[in-house]
Amino acid sequence: ELVYVLNGPNLNLLGTREPEIYGSDTLDDIAGMLEDRARELGLEVEVRQSNHEGHLVDWLHEAQAEGAKAVLLNAAAFTHTSVALLDAIKAIRVPVIEVHLSSPHKREPFRHKSYVGMGAHGTIAGFGAQSYLLALEAAARLA
Ligand code: DQA
Repeated sequence: ELVYVLNGPNLNLLGTREPEIYGSDTLDDIAGMLEDRARELGLEVEVRQSNHEGHLVDWLHEAQAEGAKAVLLNAAAFTHTSVALLDAIKAIRVPVIEVHLSSPHKREPFRHKSYVGMGAHGTIAGFGAQSYLLALEAAARLA
């Protein structure tokens, strides 16, 4: 079974981007960890990143068309702005798990609102790169 792992703007810079907040693992490192754990769980992961909102919308539609079991979505800053992503999440039947490295509620007030969270099955945030692995475990347990 296939799990899409979709990453939004600036996450291509993970590793060097504000490491005190986001840690020193790169997105490739995280993808490697997810692939290893997915294999153990009998899953397959498709890890992608884009700085463009519309690509994320298209990939949510694609996840549905491909019959994905779940989507792990770290929409990064679009989390807090994107009605288009919320609508896309609501438009598909595939469960979406919201993921964040940091804990947005501990940060600036503008990060406290999550459009993604309004449509997501659940949210895992604040565990650094481990947030993705915890979200994959959650996806594996979905019926
Ligand atoms: C983030 C949190 C967002 O508020 C921020 O805009 C990001 C990363 C996280 O993973 O902690 O780019 O989604």
